[in-house]
Amino acid sequence: SPPAIIAPSILSADFAELGKACSDTISQGADWLHVDIMDGHFVPNMTFGAPVVTKIRTHVDRPTAAHGRGTFDCHMMIAEPKRWVRDFKKAGCDLYCFHYEAAVDSTAADSPSGTSSAKTSPKELIKFIHSEGLQAGIAIKPKTPVDVLWEILDNPVKEEVPDMVLVMTVEPGFGGQSFMAEMMPKVTELRKRYPNMQIEVDGGLSEKTIDQAADAGANVIVAGSAVFSASDPGQVIKKLRDAVES
Ligand code: DX5
Ligand code: ZN
Repeated sequence: SPPAIIAPSILSADFAELGKACSDTISQGADWLHVDIMDGHFVPNMTFGAPVVTKIRTHVDRPTAAHGRGTFDCHMMIAEPKRWVRDFKKAGCDLYCFHYEAAVDSTAADSPSGTSSAKTSPKELIKFIHSEGLQAGIAIKPKTPVDVLWEILDNPVKEEVPDMVLVMTVEPGFGGQSFMAEMMPKVTELRKRYPNMQIEVDGGLSEKTIDQAADAGANVIVAGSAVFSASDPGQVIKKLRDAVES
């Protein structure tokens, strides 16, 4: 597997002190920041949009290389993923991770105003994200089988292939839910097929569940409540990293 990347989810940070929470978390040893964008439509919760990302971006140095420290890993839990790529690029997103389900569901792509683009296929969206100079990620919800990804990942056209796959280990929408161990076969299968892929897990990761995810082959670890509720977040980040690297 590629090296461990620990990506605390700022969903569990104090939103009134978000800039400081971001810079503190990087100082405590985080590699990336996982930024959860929810639109109240694709998921039953709302967070914030590009204007907030623009402001918090100024609190963290930009990464100097792909996958470098300070990467803003934007998890787009939104119904119209193509519509927001440019805004998030301008805001300082480095990795734009959209949901497979949103890209293939044409009803979810209808904007209320009727102005927005029609349905985009995952590979077209990945190509567009890359053409904007961002890394691309594709996320699957718990009920989505992993085999929908094979045709996307086996594509010989490199710019249409994502840089990362996110296997959700909770239903997206809220922090603090329980880890779904039954998602681990998806990770195992992905790792077997793609030894060099960045494979991210998100939801319920903690010192208690990290070994299952690490054993399955996940290397990008999101943790929200486990990091932000800790009295020593740096210690939690270290333990998560050690588990992946051992
Ligand atoms: C859930 C979000 C997660 C969330 C994880 O929809 O995608 O990133 O913040 O929180 P924990 O680690 O508390 O499960
Ligand atoms: Zn997330």
